[in-house]
Amino acid sequence: MIPIAITGTGSFIPQRVITNDDLSKIVDTSDEWISTRTGIKERHIVAGETTSDMATAAAAQALATAGIKPEEVDLVVVATVTPDRFTPTVSCLVQKKLGLVKATCLDLWAGCSGFIFSLMTAHRLLASGSYQKALVIGAESLTKLTNWADRNTCVLFGDGAGAVAIESGDTNGILNHITGSDGSRGDVLVIEGVAINNPAFQSTEPAHHIIMDGGEVFKFAVNAMNESIRQVLNGTGFGLEEIDYFIPHQANDRIIELVAHKMKLPREKFYTNLHKYGNTSAASIPIALDEMNNKGMLKKGMKLITVGFGGGLTWGANLLQWVV
Ligand SMILES: CC(C)(COP(=O)(O)OP(=O)(O)OC[C@H]1O[C@@H](n2cnc3c(N)ncnc32)[C@H](O)[C@@H]1OP(=O)(O)O)[C@@H](O)C(=O)NCCC(=O)NCCS
Repeated sequence: MIPIAITGTGSFIPQRVITNDDLSKIVDTSDEWISTRTGIKERHIVAGETTSDMATAAAAQALATAGIKPEEVDLVVVATVTPDRFTPTVSCLVQKKLGLVKATCLDLWAGCSGFIFSLMTAHRLLASGSYQKALVIGAESLTKLTNWADRNTCVLFGDGAGAVAIESGDTNGILNHITGSDGSRGDVLVIEGVAINNPAFQSTEPAHHIIMDGGEVFKFAVNAMNESIRQVLNGTGFGLEEIDYFIPHQANDRIIELVAHKMKLPREKFYTNLHKYGNTSAASIPIALDEMNNKGMLKKGMKLITVGFGGGLTWGANLLQWVV
């Protein structure tokens, strides 16, 4: 297979902030409850920006840091469950906004695991020689689907976008993937689709809100992350101790703590920024990667595992080596 690596990162966070104290004026909650149960202190929410606006800004940065010109990009994969429209897709909107004239564009729905699935998809397409330079983007405005009267969910989510540029080169920087799905357990995290409304049948328009059994998702998440980390190393020759950083989906600090504890891994190796952004779904991992990159935390040769879980249910991990 052709060696492929991440060569650029980018992110976009909307300016508008909602703190835990702000939320306590909307629902019966408190900073103390949200901080201790989740680790989240504040989240950024869209105030006019669309998912594709955020994706475009993150992608532009990823291209700039990689030194790739828009006309060189031949594949765009956007992970999102909150597109601006059903069509055109977010990836096609990014193409238009950035002038990615020769790119093939597709959106991928895999809940909060979307970035992991998208990186795997883009990587396989590049490694087989079908394409040479790709943008992989996670972009979400989940707060447009949030029920602001439901304290069980409205405290958890935030908006944003993250992106990576990947391309062929001399060193292999994308070493392995593992992904999984279990549709039989999907009812624990639901966002309704559009109701049938045609001459043959009319049903009631459902509320397009996030409906979640938090406790069930919590248990699933700890197990899925633990298993995904172990499985993505299988057959690679790398051991857990050789991983410099784990970049987990940023849903809840307690989930991440428990994964580290159960795997007997140092908590400091798990990067978290959820206190600032909450759960930004498919955007959380690429936002974290970009933040780490900007802080100079990612050094050439480092081994990283991105790991996550989400609605569907879905889960997965990518094993990466930093090459730039
Ligand atoms: C949602 C979550 C934070 C709830 O934490 P928890 O410790 O499991 O809390 P519980 O659901 O047991 O609720 C405990 C109590 O707090 C209450 N509560 C829930 N949300 C609250 C809030 N925002 N403020 C105050 N109290 C709240 C509940 O009503 C419950 O009260 P009760 O005991 O009187 O019924 C946690 O389960 C979680 O993070 N799950 C995973 C969710 C997730 O990651 N989703 C995204 C998947 S990609």
